[in-house]
Amino acid sequence: ATILVINGPNLNMLGRREPQIYGRQTLADVIENLEVLADEYNIRLRDFQSNAEFEIINRIHQAMDDGTDYIIINPAAFTHTSVAIRDALATVNIPFIEVHISNIHQREPFRTHSYFSDLADGIIAGLGTKGYELALHAAADKLL
Ligand code: DQA
Repeated sequence: ATILVINGPNLNMLGRREPQIYGRQTLADVIENLEVLADEYNIRLRDFQSNAEFEIINRIHQAMDDGTDYIIINPAAFTHTSVAIRDALATVNIPFIEVHISNIHQREPFRTHSYFSDLADGIIAGLGTKGYELALHAAADKLL
């Protein structure tokens, strides 16, 4: 099975970006941990990060034909703005888990709404970068 991990804008700055909110782990650290975990499950992991909405949309479209069975996505700020990325996920109809490092319900009111949550298999928020690992365990459960 193949899982695609998608990270949205500013997550390339993880580890240096507001560490009191997002922690000290870099995105490379996160992906490395996920790769070890995926290996244990015998799952192929692919990862993609972009700061550009259209690139994320194009990557999701590509997933329809590249054997992706499941998506773990942190849409970052696009969570609260992007009907277009939501529509892309609906288009390819690949099941996904929505991950947020911070608890979006504990912060500014504009972060409480997500364009993704009603389509997601599940949502993880507020558990730090560990949330990605938890999502991978849950995805593996569904796939294996
Ligand atoms: C985030 C929460 C979003 O509100 C924010 O714009 C991000 C990261 C999180 O992982 O906690 O960039 O998705």
